[in-house]
Amino acid sequence: MSTPPSLPDGLRDVPLGDNGLRGWQVDTPLCRALVSAQGGQVLAFQARGREPLLWLSPAAHLAPGKAIRGGIPLCFPWFGPHPSDSRQPAHGFARLREWQLAAARLDADVLHLELALQADAGTRDLWPHDFRAVLRIGFGHHLSLQLEVANRGSAAFDFSLAFHSYFPLVDSCQARIEGLAGSICLDQLDPARHQRRQHGPVRFEGETDRIFTGVSADCLLLDEARDSAVRLLASGCRSVIAWNPGPEKTARLVDMPASAWQGMACVESGNVGEDSVSLPPGAVARFALTLQQEP
Ligand code: BG6
Repeated sequence: MSTPPSLPDGLRDVPLGDNGLRGWQVDTPLCRALVSAQGGQVLAFQARGREPLLWLSPAAHLAPGKAIRGGIPLCFPWFGPHPSDSRQPAHGFARLREWQLAAARLDADVLHLELALQADAGTRDLWPHDFRAVLRIGFGHHLSLQLEVANRGSAAFDFSLAFHSYFPLVDSCQARIEGLAGSICLDQLDPARHQRRQHGPVRFEGETDRIFTGVSADCLLLDEARDSAVRLLASGCRSVIAWNPGPEKTARLVDMPASAWQGMACVESGNVGEDSVSLPPGAVARFALTLQQEP
C-alpha cells in the first residue's frame, strides 16, 4: 500500500464515533466540512456565512460496514436493491468500503481531496470487475464532487451510480424541486411501477420516491419556508432521484428520528436504470456534481 499523502493546512485526520471509523475534518477560510473514509462520504459542509448544506441524521450509525444516513453517500456500482441478488447490499458497496486518501492540497483557499477505491478480493466477491474509482472533492464557497470510474479489466462492465445528497429543510412539505416538470419518472411507490410524466415541480407530500431518467440532471431544491435554495449542477449525469421517507417509512428506519422526515429530503444525481453506464475495457467515465446555495 502506498504511503498516505501529508495533510495540508486546513485538513485533519479525525476519529468518527466510537467504533473505529475515521475521517477528515476540513477547516479553511472558506468552509468547514467533515468526510468519512468509509464510503468517501461527505457528512457535513458549511461555507462561511451560510447555513449547513447537508443533512446528517442525529441517529446515523457510525460503524464499520454500516451505511451512514446523511451527507452524500455514493451509490455504486448499483443503485437500490441488487438487480438479481437480494442478499447484496442496497445501493452497492462503495458507501460501505474504506476509501484511501490519494491526494490532498490547498489551492487559493479551496481544499481538494482525492479518494480512491479499487477492486480487491472483497469487491470481486460482490461484483466481479476490475475497476478503480477516484472521487475528487473540492471544498470552497461551494461543494463539488467528481467521480471517475476506470475499467482496468479485459471485458466491458455496466454500473449505476448516484450522489445520494441529503439536504436539510425547514419543512419538507413546503419544499419543491424545479427543473423536472414534463420529465418521465418511475414512481417507486406505485406497485404497478408505471412510468408517468411529472406535472409541475416535485413536492414532498409524505413519502416520495421518484426516479427521473433521461433528464439534464440540473435542478433546484427550494426550501420555501426559509426562502433559500440549492442548485444542483451535474455533468455526465442523466438521472435524478427525489426521496423523502415520510412518517411511516421513517418509523421503520432505526437510524432516523421519527419526525426527521419533515426536516430533510434527498435529491440524488447520477445514472440509474436506462441511464446506467456501460464501460469498455481501458475506458474511464466521469460524473460531476456541484452544489451551490442560493441566494
Ligand atoms: C433512495 C431510494 O435513493 O434511497 C429509496 O430511491 C431508498 O427507495 C432510499 O429507500 C434510502 O436507501 P437506504 O438503503 O440508504 O436506506
